[in-house]
Amino acid sequence: MSVPEHIAIIMDGNGRWAKKRGLPRNAGHTAGAKNVENICVAAKKLGVKYLTLYALSTENWSRPEAEVRALMRLLSGYLDKAIKTAHENQMHIRVIGDISRLDQKFQRQISEAERVSSVYSDLNLTIAINYGSRDEIVRAMRHVAEDIKAGTLLPEAITEELFDSYLDTKELPAPDLLVRTSGEQRLSNYLLWQVAYSEFYFTPVPWPDFDEKELAKAVDAYENRDRRYGGIREE
Ligand code: IPE
Ligand code: IPE
Ligand code: MG
Repeated sequence: MSVPEHIAIIMDGNGRWAKKRGLPRNAGHTAGAKNVENICVAAKKLGVKYLTLYALSTENWSRPEAEVRALMRLLSGYLDKAIKTAHENQMHIRVIGDISRLDQKFQRQISEAERVSSVYSDLNLTIAINYGSRDEIVRAMRHVAEDIKAGTLLPEAITEELFDSYLDTKELPAPDLLVRTSGEQRLSNYLLWQVAYSEFYFTPVPWPDFDEKELAKAVDAYENRDRRYGGIREE
């Protein structure tokens, strides 16, 4: 099988990476944020077109306030750098999730990064911030209901494709490969609708140590899978 066109990653294990080194959790987040650029470059080299990274979940607000604040600062700092990377790597940046809960300055920064990079298409980097799949589906449903109420949509016109076009990921193909680092084998509310037919790859390596070689290993594993989509294998 060929290289996955779209890889989605649950970047997990920053806290455990730091703890193992006797460092505060936030040091793990700093190391994790630094790793994002390496993986973008590595993905592009491998021929991956879409990379979708889980940076902050709707559930992560339940962490201590200082940690949430540090994560926001890091994400905002990363986005500044990402604009430069976007030019260097011809990378289109998108953000998915409910950004209305983020502070105004951060929201403006996101719009700016999306706008400036929208001319590129070699690599499509999507960052999930305040993202939860259930929240995304509920927001989409609300939008569908509003359109029906306004008379611009008929209930019988609702198909899988139409519903897909109401999701935050409407501009992205479904992920071919879903990777979760650091050993946990769960989705934690990530892309529930979109990963219906994705291959899953779990690795014990924590996100800050997940380098180009580890990404190549995940792609290798994917290339050896037998995807069927409910059909049978052609012998
Ligand atoms: C991933 O690392 C980063 C976020 C979820 C924001 P964690 O902070 O979840 O690290 P662990 O799972 O505690 O090791
Ligand atoms: C999922 O990781 C969210 C992100 C990677 C942003 P968590 O570390 O928050 O997930 P749980 O709590 O272990 O399920
Ligand atoms: Mg975690």
